[in-house]
Amino acid sequence: MEIKEKIEDYNSSIDAADVSSEEALEAFRIQFLGSKNVLKDLYKELRNVPNEEKKDVGQAINALKKKAEEKFESAKKEKDNKAGTKKKFDLTRPAERVELGARHPLAVIRNEIIEIFSRIGFSVSEGPEIEDDWHNFSALNFPPEHPARDMQDTFFIEKNDHEMALRTHTSSVQVRVMESEDPPIRTISPGRVYRNEAISARAHCFFHQVEGLYIDKDVSFADLKQTLLYFAREMFGEKTEIRLRPSYFPFTEPSAEVDVSCSICQGEGCNVCKYTGWLEILGCGMVDPNVLEASGIDSKVYSGFAFGMGIERIAQLKYRVNDLRKYSENDIRFLKQFKSAY
Ligand code: DAH
Repeated sequence: MEIKEKIEDYNSSIDAADVSSEEALEAFRIQFLGSKNVLKDLYKELRNVPNEEKKDVGQAINALKKKAEEKFESAKKEKDNKAGTKKKFDLTRPAERVELGARHPLAVIRNEIIEIFSRIGFSVSEGPEIEDDWHNFSALNFPPEHPARDMQDTFFIEKNDHEMALRTHTSSVQVRVMESEDPPIRTISPGRVYRNEAISARAHCFFHQVEGLYIDKDVSFADLKQTLLYFAREMFGEKTEIRLRPSYFPFTEPSAEVDVSCSICQGEGCNVCKYTGWLEILGCGMVDPNVLEASGIDSKVYSGFAFGMGIERIAQLKYRVNDLRKYSENDIRFLKQFKSAY
């Protein structure tokens, strides 16, 4: 066979060669690029080609060699890529850990409080954080000269207008509920409140409260006490005792502050309860008849009790968090410690 025909032949066999499998590619390499490849024979034969044709034939063999190399390289690259992708998707590799978020501790406590009161028939009600003077103060029997109405304690929306303010307590929601619903009323109102305080470990310019309100015929102080005892035991454990101390709030008469027995030292005395065995958790009382009347409820027919507690305070006692600022710093190391059923 003439050398030119052989070149033609090899050219078409390079084109036609199957290099799809590992073995076929290796066979192709040995045939066209190996140490005893067929092109070497062609180069040998080149010697016998007449001089005037040598250049063309030589170039044709070079082209053949180049073609074989290119085909080999591209087939190999494709195979390596495929192998590479396979490695990237190693299905036996353990999955990366998915970090689950945790509820904010204050949300956990709020939900637990809601849950505890819902078991004895309390609904949840909410009111606005920007509140008018009537709902935050006047309807709650605050006299006009009461210090809470002062700039020092309250954030007003307008500097020289004391009509609208950020609510200073969730007691404002009591008024809204009594205005819009007829007794019997059993509701709790969780929410954020604001006070003009310097921020420290023990005080903050905003915090959270839960207000409770129970209005019906013949509601007595004994009902209040029993309700709070039930709450304290659900929240802090069945051995918990409560203690009521006389106090004063404009919107309740009589009023009391409630302590729970220290769940940390079981009343023995420790630095959390300052060696008293008791921890203050909330304010409460019988709703003042003036407050009932201001919201359109007949105080001769109905009576009721109310209470208000700070969610941060309950969380502090349950989780022993000693710095109020931690609740709003959003430090993930703090927040992720509170995995909970609520
Ligand atoms: N509003 C009170 C406060 O912010 C808490 C409070 C005390 C609410 C007595 C009540 C109550 O409903 O009866 O400190």
